Amino acid sequence: MPILWRMLIAQLSDTHVDLSRPAKAQALQRAVAHLNQLPLRPDAVIVSGDCAEHGPPGEYALFRERLAPLPMPVYVIPGNHDQRDELGRAVGPQGTQALDGFMQYVVECDPLRLIALDTHVPGESGGLLCEKRLGWLQDRLSEAPQTPTLIFMHHPPLVTGIQPVDRTELEGAGAFADIIRQHPQVRRVVAGHIHMSTVQHLAGTVLMTCSGTDAAWLPDLGQPAKVLAQQQPASCLLHYWTPADDLLTYTSVIGQYGLVTQHDGVQWI
Ligand SMILES: [Fe+2]
Repeated sequence: MPILWRMLIAQLSDTHVDLSRPAKAQALQRAVAHLNQLPLRPDAVIVSGDCAEHGPPGEYALFRERLAPLPMPVYVIPGNHDQRDELGRAVGPQGTQALDGFMQYVVECDPLRLIALDTHVPGESGGLLCEKRLGWLQDRLSEAPQTPTLIFMHHPPLVTGIQPVDRTELEGAGAFADIIRQHPQVRRVVAGHIHMSTVQHLAGTVLMTCSGTDAAWLPDLGQPAKVLAQQQPASCLLHYWTPADDLLTYTSVIGQYGLVTQHDGVQWI
């Protein structure tokens, strides 16, 4: 495979496609249209879980239908709302080196490497990285220590301070951080689940969470016992890698916006 000298990975999250709430699928449709009108087309799209609200086959059929206009590969993982087996049947095999029994795999996007982690626990809101999943991660990171790597997962190893949100935290987050700390090629850990846009330091790398496709929540930090959230425009993350600048992530508000020339290549206008 030829080396590409830039790589753009778009991240959508928490699409929650729901047959009884058409607004969710419409929001995904807007997000897909947004990605398709970007000036630089993403090389791949990742969807960081909660693809469906309940997980029957009909929701996943609609999820696939809404993603269909994307011409690039799309990689998905399950969130707590998903049914892992149904999602797997709908989207088919993902990536390479898949861990048996999980939607956990590698995508070689030379020169960037993507690692998908499966934090799903059937019937639970919280997430888990068990010994089997963490052992697989350790093996994958050990085999390519020089390759810049982006890890994506549903539940973030993050404590927000908003108490109801933190009740659905990720079990195994400490052991996960211990592994990440050993592998400086991990440029970014990205997640969904909390429907908020956040950035935090994590074990020598940067942890980011992506908003949902229908809205971003900004919580009232003064009232941590509640979730009092302002609904703000939904956004996606654009992870852009070049050899000179390594990995840079842009937050892109979902919508149709025109290009405005502000610098013509010679001077600012
Ligand atoms: Fe969600």
